[in-house]
Amino acid sequence: MSDKLIIFDTTLRDGEQSPGASMTRDEKLRIARQLERLKVDVIEAGFAASSNGDFEAVKSIADAIKDSTVCSLARANDRDISRAAEALRGASRARIHTFIATSALHMEKKLRMTPEQVLEQARQSVRFARNLCADIEFSPEDGYRSDVDFLCRVLEAVIDEGATTLNIPDTVGYAIPELYGNFIRTLRERIPNSDKAIWSVHCHNDLGMAVANSLAGVKIGGARQVECTINGLGERAGNCSLEEVVMAVKTRRDYFNLDLGIDTSQIVPASRMVAQTTGFVVQPNKAVVGANAFAHASGIHQDGVLKARDTYEIMRAEDVGWSANKIVLGKLSGRNAFKQRLQDLGVELESESELNAAFVKFKDLADRKSEIFDEDIIALVGDESVSA
Ligand code: KIV
Ligand code: ZN
Repeated sequence: MSDKLIIFDTTLRDGEQSPGASMTRDEKLRIARQLERLKVDVIEAGFAASSNGDFEAVKSIADAIKDSTVCSLARANDRDISRAAEALRGASRARIHTFIATSALHMEKKLRMTPEQVLEQARQSVRFARNLCADIEFSPEDGYRSDVDFLCRVLEAVIDEGATTLNIPDTVGYAIPELYGNFIRTLRERIPNSDKAIWSVHCHNDLGMAVANSLAGVKIGGARQVECTINGLGERAGNCSLEEVVMAVKTRRDYFNLDLGIDTSQIVPASRMVAQTTGFVVQPNKAVVGANAFAHASGIHQDGVLKARDTYEIMRAEDVGWSANKIVLGKLSGRNAFKQRLQDLGVELESESELNAAFVKFKDLADRKSEIFDEDIIALVGDESVSA
């Protein structure tokens, strides 16, 4: 089995399904260029058959992007698949991603089709797509809630028709990490031709477990592709967050032992671009890309980080594109952090007693003000009552 974990970004397709996150063609192209700088392996650019606008967006991205595979979603029918192929014609590397629901609930209530009809449609669609494109991904929508015996039959059939990636969506975010990991493993073990395709995970965040489920799909299930979005954008509570899954695999390489092609220094610029474009603000305490992700406020933590960053940092802020970690001066800060900030600001106090006096002033101010900025400190040490 390969040691490379393929990162499939679907910010521009599933991410855009977030209510209020719709993007113009130019906005999508700008984000696609950033995803290429981030070195994601696959960019799902949109759903070409869904509208003329999305067709144009997929086409522009396919024409412009050289280093990532460009993918379009398509329902499992000839019209959608043909539209996807047409939009992708200019791509250096193209992928068609076709899907049909396989859970009893979706087949009966939504598609109004029998399982045998769904199986036949999946088979025929992959056969049709394979004649237009060498790289075909198949997703059984609501796969995690599907009957495992039926799902095995569908997946075996589409592999026989030439599907190169099998993606198992937890469409409604119902999975639990261990169960989802075991589910992927069971499918891989039971399907005789399973090693002919790459297995992929696609998890939604309705119970806040999209990243954990995806990682279990990789570790327990042996998946080698993760579908994810910048800032975890996506339908309802969102998708698996790219920055979290990537940094988990990188930071805990000792556990996952997988290679990534991602340039992690482009994560924060990508996060900012997606937030600005969609207007979906990133919460301050969001892992990796939140404003507080590398900020230290307590005196004990600040003292530790100033002595050795590893004491309270498991990743480097610079590695994900922040300019540096942040020591936030406030009422919990200690003398050491205060002294360091003075040095950083080029302020030299003559003696220890001057420093002590300034520190008292600082603590007094911090009791009244939640965050102390550099300007406050300069004003404070310039104050005659301190320097006297
Ligand atoms: O969540 C889902 O099931 C999807 C499929 C179309 C892959 O987004
Ligand atoms: Zn999805």
